[in-house]
Amino acid sequence: MKLILLGAPGAGKGTVAKLLTKHDGSVQISTGDILRVAVANNTDLGREAKGFMDAGDLVPDSLIMGIMEQRLQESDCDKGFLLDGFPRTIPQAEDLMKLLDKLNIKLDMAVEIDVPRDVILDRLTTRRTCENGDCQEIYNIKSNPPKVEGICDKCGSAAVQRADETTEAITHRLNTYNEKTAPLVDFYDGKGLLVSVKATDSEVVVKAITDKL
Ligand code: AP5
Repeated sequence: MKLILLGAPGAGKGTVAKLLTKHDGSVQISTGDILRVAVANNTDLGREAKGFMDAGDLVPDSLIMGIMEQRLQESDCDKGFLLDGFPRTIPQAEDLMKLLDKLNIKLDMAVEIDVPRDVILDRLTTRRTCENGDCQEIYNIKSNPPKVEGICDKCGSAAVQRADETTEAITHRLNTYNEKTAPLVDFYDGKGLLVSVKATDSEVVVKAITDKL
């Protein structure tokens, strides 16, 4: 499957993407994960992105498009891909359409995961993420805690709060979403690609997506 997952921070895009990879081997491509690895490894990209990310701002479109142009041409995308956190702005969405045309790739759909704001705030303050860049497993101390507190079940690294999970950064990320990313819902609706799912249960979201394929 070739799809875009849209939704506010904490809507569950990463969680749903990980469930969908088990469905048909499509690969999850999270620009947030790619950027966090770059920050952890202190690469040129990471140094450029860190300040924006910690403050809850979007990283400049040009940096993101450079990453995605390369990533979408890697061979593991042949089976399918789940774009998690990309595109995030109208210019990114327009550039993605051009890139997919150039690569002769057809999108199946853009899925909006619609979750109430109070649920999102609760989830983001209780999320824990594996700090190992090759793993980045997602936990939640309320709904899905690691077996041993603070330790990733999968790889044994620390499961920690992300740098952008302060109340201030979360509020800013939600405002940025409403201003810059929410307009993509109309953008994809206008192209006949939008599927909107209002659900807080990730399995329900996965079923709604697989039923549409
Ligand atoms: P990114 O990593 O993409 O963060 P985000 O969009 O803010 O999304 P999150 O990862 O916070 O949430 P999610 O929807 O994936 O939810 P999750 O599944 O983890 O981006 C981070 C930063 O990178 C951005 O702020 C920006 O600076 C930069 N960036 C990235 N992409 C960019 C782009 N394209 N352009 C410019 N800048 C970019 O779930 C959240 C929590 O809820 C977890 O604890 C999970 O366990 C729990 N949970 C999930 N589903 C359920 C459920 N059904 N029931 C109970 N708990 C649940």
